[in-house]
Amino acid sequence: MKPNIVLTAAFPAVARDLLAGDFEVVEHPTEQSRSEEEMITILADADGAITLLSDPLTRRVLSSNPNLAIVANFAVGYNNVDIEAAKEIGIIVTNTPGVLTEATADLTMGLMLAVMRRIVEGDAEVRSTGRCEWEPLKLLGSSLQAKRLGIIGMGRIGSAVAARSYVFGMEVVHHSRGRGMPLDELLATSDVVSLHVPLTADTRHIIDRDALALMKKGSYLINTSRGPLVDEAALCDALESGHLRGAGLDVYEDEPAVNPRLLKRHDVVIVPHIGSATEEARDGMARIAATEIVRFFRKQPPLHAVT
Ligand code: GLV
Repeated sequence: MKPNIVLTAAFPAVARDLLAGDFEVVEHPTEQSRSEEEMITILADADGAITLLSDPLTRRVLSSNPNLAIVANFAVGYNNVDIEAAKEIGIIVTNTPGVLTEATADLTMGLMLAVMRRIVEGDAEVRSTGRCEWEPLKLLGSSLQAKRLGIIGMGRIGSAVAARSYVFGMEVVHHSRGRGMPLDELLATSDVVSLHVPLTADTRHIIDRDALALMKKGSYLINTSRGPLVDEAALCDALESGHLRGAGLDVYEDEPAVNPRLLKRHDVVIVPHIGSATEEARDGMARIAATEIVRFFRKQPPLHAVT
């Protein structure tokens, strides 16, 4: 009997190509958010699964099917998985690091440039007026040159952002697992703060009301990591009071919902969690996830286990 592999979304074709022949593959349509009940239903006959970062892989879900042996999460982040439960139950969980580092770092720079140089506001103006009018005082933004970038989380993606930022003439400081600059000092002295830590119990709301108050007046916040790192209501207050000059956001506290207060603001650039959305990165992620499944059923050790 071929093992049953459930794909909880439409992933790049390379995933199905790698699984073809040796597995019974069931692909489900992509859903923005699933309940535990829905997950239990679609995983009921699975021996393995490739899952979305929004799929809740709670203890209840993971323990609902005793045959489920491996979950290859199609993401570098795995905050949607109860890792302790997976370990206890004996389910292998893997992620897709490395292949999305450059794409996510590129998007981080894109958001920084877009918000600091007011690119989206400019685009909206030209579209609405049908004209390009040069004025000495119009749409003045902030230069990146000589500004201090404070990177919180100097892992693969944080380091790739740092490398790009040097080329723009920025001064880079970082705070990472207690190393580098103390967090309070980074917040108080950076012109731009960019988040690159995973979401854990320790990092949830790392940018809370107090952290925002510490940030320099007129500074910017960029988040391409996970929405719940930021207390979004407090961020809206900081933007509305003029304490922060802008934000570039790829991720939101309550995805797929986006806070309506953010939607109203011209000083916030808002994109729909597209950090890894290049053909190259997504193909790489699909290849890694499917390869982990193939290796597992050939009794080879995982290459990117998080359990
Ligand atoms: C995307 O957000 C990822 O974790 O890969």
